[in-house]
Amino acid sequence: MKREPAVERVIFSAPEIRETIGQLARTIARDYAGQPLLVLGVLKGALYACVDLARALAVQPEPPGPIELDFITASSYGGSTVSSGNVRIACEPQTGIAGKNVLLVEDVVDGGLTLARLQAFVQERRPASLRTCVLFDKPSARMADVPVDYRGHAVPDQFVVGYGLDYQESYRNLPYLAQLRSWVFSQ
Ligand code: IMP
Ligand code: MG
Repeated sequence: MKREPAVERVIFSAPEIRETIGQLARTIARDYAGQPLLVLGVLKGALYACVDLARALAVQPEPPGPIELDFITASSYGGSTVSSGNVRIACEPQTGIAGKNVLLVEDVVDGGLTLARLQAFVQERRPASLRTCVLFDKPSARMADVPVDYRGHAVPDQFVVGYGLDYQESYRNLPYLAQLRSWVFSQ
């Protein structure tokens, strides 16, 4: 595969991420075997994580079911690499949340303010249960105490892109998680 010139270093390769998604799916399937589940992905960052996780759940020996898939859009960074803390729900899910088992799927938890806001949004709509799955976690950056039930990879407290994560809307489509070269940020 041709390496994107803006990439300094690959942190997790596509096969490593696939393996992690598989492990998350096995654990989640054990917890929800045979139970209906609403998988609620946080756009745009968790697009890949959510879709790949939902697919991996479907091939488990005893998957949750039926699985509904919906999305919620949160925005917090406003184009910078530092969280503004001003988290906005830009687009609400179309599916009802009340009385359902909800699995919130987020790409990365950094300060935690985005996740805290999203969890409050879901809880206000009275789900039967709410659990949170986060693919990448930056534990040393945490400002808010947010519960995370399923965690993929821990990553260092640095800005990363790929597998859904962007820098100014670019690089989401990279199939791996990467650190960008410093010149990208000064352009
Ligand atoms: P938090 O509110 O500080 O936890 O920020 C979480 C949100 O910021 C996530 O939903 C991501 O969209 C975005 N984010 C956090 N860290 C990164 C990163 O390293 N790269 C790209 N986006 C990030
Ligand atoms: Mg996000």
